[in-house]
Amino acid sequence: MVRRPFSSRVPSDLGRNPLARAVADARADGRALVDLTESNPTRAGFDYPDYLLSALADARGLKYEPAPFGLIAARQAVARDYARRGVSVSPERIALTASTSEAYSLLFKLLTDAGDEVLAPRPSYPLFDHLARLDAIALRHYDLEYHNGWSIDLASLERAISERTRAVLVVSPNNPTGSFVSRQDLKRLETICVDRGIAIIADEVFADYQLRPGACVDAGRVLDIRQGLAFSLGGLSKSVGLPQVKLGWMAAAGAGDVVAEALARLELICDTYLSVSTPIQAAAAELLSRGAAVRTQIQTRIASNYRTLAERLEAVPSCTLLVADGGWSAVVRVPSIGSEEDLVVDLVGKGVLVHPGYFFDFPHESYLVVSLLPPESEFADGVGRVLRHVGTL
Ligand SMILES: Cc1ncc(COP(=O)(O)O)c(C=O)c1O
Repeated sequence: MVRRPFSSRVPSDLGRNPLARAVADARADGRALVDLTESNPTRAGFDYPDYLLSALADARGLKYEPAPFGLIAARQAVARDYARRGVSVSPERIALTASTSEAYSLLFKLLTDAGDEVLAPRPSYPLFDHLARLDAIALRHYDLEYHNGWSIDLASLERAISERTRAVLVVSPNNPTGSFVSRQDLKRLETICVDRGIAIIADEVFADYQLRPGACVDAGRVLDIRQGLAFSLGGLSKSVGLPQVKLGWMAAAGAGDVVAEALARLELICDTYLSVSTPIQAAAAELLSRGAAVRTQIQTRIASNYRTLAERLEAVPSCTLLVADGGWSAVVRVPSIGSEEDLVVDLVGKGVLVHPGYFFDFPHESYLVVSLLPPESEFADGVGRVLRHVGTL
């Protein structure tokens, strides 16, 4: 066999899983599917004002002034956006990126050598596996535990730490559990990490979206950390529902001297890529302020769909809606008669697509994860199909 020149950063098995095959078959047969996995806001029927992207034509976009962390006006706009949420951060501590995914990669370059480890919550966002592997580092997990609300199992986190642990990822609110990191958990995490020289990376892409009134205000704030090193990640993809515009950011906090050294090193990394286009930077302030029109619609939609789900589930005693405080998804515990995989494939046969819990690494079966983004009538139709099927299991 001819030797292939590929790295092991990309898995060798790129085949489709049974759910993806069932969806492809349904679509090839022309069978309609209610998609309760839709997480792309630009496909969820929101009203995007025509003027939203007009700032991209700003003449400042015609001039190239390379700046590793981005134009200061754009970084000031991001700082104002944090202030809107009651979080204070200097624009000097903010770096722009093309996306949150890119921010992870830049931070992994700052913090890790090949073979080092980062800890991620379980259950959580499946992309972390790829992000870590693409940067030649190992992903280890700590558990979130559920007792009518999620919290960090700090004992599992301490057990997962090794000599090679460089960072702990927290997602607040988490995808798909919808749990914000509490102030108490963040404080304990800070102590654990400072003592061991481990950085905290808080993914706050969904921080604007709450399902429980007051949840955003109650949440722990990573940028208030004054020891060690911590980062907050965010971006336009969720905060104003514009994933295609490709603008994200990271903001640093911690002990002054450590932050200064981190920023100096990060500057070299960002300067090597300079990946954020000037027209987007020039438009950032306008996008952040005008995007509020989309954010409000998303907030109304997710709250309404979560209520619908809760109401519909009251009539199905075999299923439980897990309490979620924020974010764009909801988790339903369903009876474990067969495997989650068989269940979601069967549901495709009933005309509805949902994610199985194992996609997000739930510790045991059976959970279904639904996106709260679809238009209300579609969502109610899809939930009806799911519950008619699982209610009879
Ligand atoms: C927790 C989490 N972080 C990051 C992202 C990706 O954000 P971006 O589009 O800015 O890379 C997602 C997308 O679903 C997400 O769920």
